[in-house]
Amino acid sequence: MREKQAELNKHQNEYQSLFEQVPCIITVQDRNYKLIRYNREFDKKFKPQPGDYCFYAYKGRKEKCEICPVEKTFEDGLSHFSEERGFNRDGSPTHWVVNTTPIKNEKGEIVAAMEMSLDVTQTKLLEEELKKSEKKYYAIFDNIPNPVFVLDMDTLEILDCNTSVEGVYGYKKDEMIERSFLELFRPEEKDYYAKMIKNSSVINQARHLNKNKGAIFVNIRVSPSEYPGGKVFLVTTSDITRRLETEQQLIQASKMATLGEMATGVAHELNQPLSVIKTASRFFMKKINKKEKIEDEVLFTLSEEIDAYVDRATKIINHMRQFGRKSDTTLEKVRVNAVLEKAVEILGQQLKVRGIEIFWDLELDPPPIMADPDRLEQVFVNLLINARDAMDENQQSYQPRKEAKKISLKTRSHGKEITVEISDTGPGIEGAILERIFEPFFTTKKVGQGTGLGLSISYGIIHDCKGSIRAVSGKGKGTRFIMKFPISDEN
Ligand SMILES: Nc1ncnc2c1ncn2[C@@H]1O[C@H](COP(=O)(O)OP(=O)(O)OP(=O)(O)O)[C@@H](O)[C@H]1O
Ligand SMILES: [Mg+2]
Repeated sequence: MREKQAELNKHQNEYQSLFEQVPCIITVQDRNYKLIRYNREFDKKFKPQPGDYCFYAYKGRKEKCEICPVEKTFEDGLSHFSEERGFNRDGSPTHWVVNTTPIKNEKGEIVAAMEMSLDVTQTKLLEEELKKSEKKYYAIFDNIPNPVFVLDMDTLEILDCNTSVEGVYGYKKDEMIERSFLELFRPEEKDYYAKMIKNSSVINQARHLNKNKGAIFVNIRVSPSEYPGGKVFLVTTSDITRRLETEQQLIQASKMATLGEMATGVAHELNQPLSVIKTASRFFMKKINKKEKIEDEVLFTLSEEIDAYVDRATKIINHMRQFGRKSDTTLEKVRVNAVLEKAVEILGQQLKVRGIEIFWDLELDPPPIMADPDRLEQVFVNLLINARDAMDENQQSYQPRKEAKKISLKTRSHGKEITVEISDTGPGIEGAILERIFEPFFTTKKVGQGTGLGLSISYGIIHDCKGSIRAVSGKGKGTRFIMKFPISDEN
């Protein structure tokens, strides 16, 4: 008997210490939510007075909480769960999760309810912090002035985008989500750009369509990234339409200036056919006035000459007209030799008049490059005019050697590149100036003679077709401009 009692006491002690020491709050309450028992943890945290009610001890309330798991346990005899919030004695907020179980007497009647609470304030605070930081990052994402897209790596579907998309494309954010990023490209270019996006990080000057199907030009940056739910591409685009338009205007302006400069040369060029025609017509009039017969053979030769010179004049005029035309930014397959020949044709006469000889060293039919032929011609014309000016004898710094005053034109293809060289035997460019010649508005010419745009615009045009240009020179050494262009993939 005694042993049994001892055993019983032992068990009771065990339960008692368990009740006291578990790291959660335990109370036992009667049907009126009065606290019958509680453990040390509860005592420490809420400092209850004997006879307190649960709602008062926990939350300082005068009546039971609206939703009460203890009430439910008394009603249905089952366990219930709830999440609660209140304030600590020091006024700081606290959160806990609550679980209740019924306590029954021998007859199976519910006489009390045990409520166990676990403090989850820390977790809650972390959760809130996380939400705040998520909000913060989203605000940053949305306020980046450039459009940013999150794309599924496989399908290139837009999973998310920021609000700047609307300013550039005219689409609202929710009109974009779940659509394919490729829909922003022209249908015929979709496949090409899909490949580019998957392989590269930088796409320059791509054509996009906005909501009104208007074309805009964008630079695209792609970076692979992790995202909840898998791997994605983070894509930013920047609208360069305006910049291109301005560049375009600048190129056009400089072209017009070049045209103006060429006008003197062209006048000379046109004078020659005109004087031939004039001489012939004078001859005809004289003969007719004297009522003399013009011999058939003479008549034929002169007519043939008139015809040829009219053709020549027409050609010059057409060329000028074509050169002055505004061109857009589309690249096409171009044969550099042909463009060089055209550029020389437009300036040839002027060079000849100044005693400048041209040396041709062109590779026979090199493969084509991708470029805008009109603009490329503008580059070559700019370089020829610079060479012409450099070898101008009125310039003090230039005393030509006897044999000199040459412009050499050279083309060579090697591997995937074509090199075009235009060199002159002028005074050369000294180091300090050489560093600056590609800067816009840098000129050493007298006011009114140079705008300093020629080389900077040429540089831009060459870069647009993925080529490069550099100058090799030194004082008294002549100047060589070396251009490299990638050979077109599709030959
Ligand atoms: N072949 C050359 N030989 C010597 N100096 C040159 C040569 N080409 C260019 N330069 C130097 O580079 C400068 C800049 O050339 P760029 O073509 O940009 O402008 P510009 O010829 O002065 O003016 P613009 O071309 O606008 O009429 C020239 O002023 C000249 O000093
Ligand atoms: Mg120039």
